[in-house]
Amino acid sequence: MIFTDGTFLDLSRKFTWRNEDRRKIISFLKEELNDQSKKVLEVGCGNGIITKSFAQQALNSTFIGIDIQGDLIDQARRECDLENLTYETVDFCKEEYENEYDVIYSHFLLVDCKQADKILENMYKALKIGGTICCFEPFYQTDGLNSYMPFLNEKEKSKLRELSRELLIDIPRKNGISRDYAASIPNRFYAMRLSHIEIEIIPTYELSEKYDVYRKRFILSQAKEIMKDRQAYREKIYTSKLYSQLTQEQLDDYCNIQLKIVEEIVSNPKAFFSYRIFSAGSMLAIKGVR
Ligand SMILES: C[S@@+](CC[C@H](N)C(=O)[O-])C[C@H]1O[C@@H](n2cnc3c(N)ncnc32)[C@H](O)[C@@H]1O
Repeated sequence: MIFTDGTFLDLSRKFTWRNEDRRKIISFLKEELNDQSKKVLEVGCGNGIITKSFAQQALNSTFIGIDIQGDLIDQARRECDLENLTYETVDFCKEEYENEYDVIYSHFLLVDCKQADKILENMYKALKIGGTICCFEPFYQTDGLNSYMPFLNEKEKSKLRELSRELLIDIPRKNGISRDYAASIPNRFYAMRLSHIEIEIIPTYELSEKYDVYRKRFILSQAKEIMKDRQAYREKIYTSKLYSQLTQEQLDDYCNIQLKIVEEIVSNPKAFFSYRIFSAGSMLAIKGVR
């Protein structure tokens, strides 16, 4: 959690999106992808890794990956050489597609969105009659905090848990983002009168050892940078949008705890590398036909 930024999307998809999970997701959408000449849309495709692996499986279909963030779309384009796949920068809440796609899916989108309901509504509208919507959304996730905990005393540990809850769940909720959105999707699909609804829980996201080591190396290099100028780190946190809804006291606690962790990581990297980051979760896969 301490170094949360876009880099982790890239790292986590490249390292933790295991072949086994990929197979499960693809088999859940098998019938939809097997058919020839389908027009398929991924909403909120990020850096496009998932769109690409679907497009490679269904070369006769046409895939479009869209995302609101232009830098992620640029990266997706750079890493794509498939003729049946294109990417576009689009805010899906503002688009009005009508009856255009045979299959529309999202992966870890609605759980992070302020306007999740609007996105689902637009997905429905963008779908052809007889087309399929499919959502893959996290159902339960651990936060991987445990690897920092050995560096902290009991008071600091409980503060860090409290702050994490505030940052990851409570503040997003106040801003209209529900981390529990997945659980409500089946009812939303019924309310939209989708038929042939199928639901599966896919256990996934146990970190591979390779990713664990890679992530720790990355964290160690960032920790070394922070140690060079602690004041700059404080200023970055105090002015960051991500933390802007914490109180001054919470910001101070947060910085003090993070700086203590950073010092410990730099002074004792061996210990840091010996603590396995436990991060796991499961995903709800749900599809329905318009
Ligand atoms: C957690 S990321 C998941 C990315 C990708 N689906 C994956 O699993 O690797 C969620 C993505 O949804 C995008 N997003 C959020 N709101 C959006 C909107 N209104 N229109 C298009 N994309 C959106 C974000 O920019 C972000 O890249």
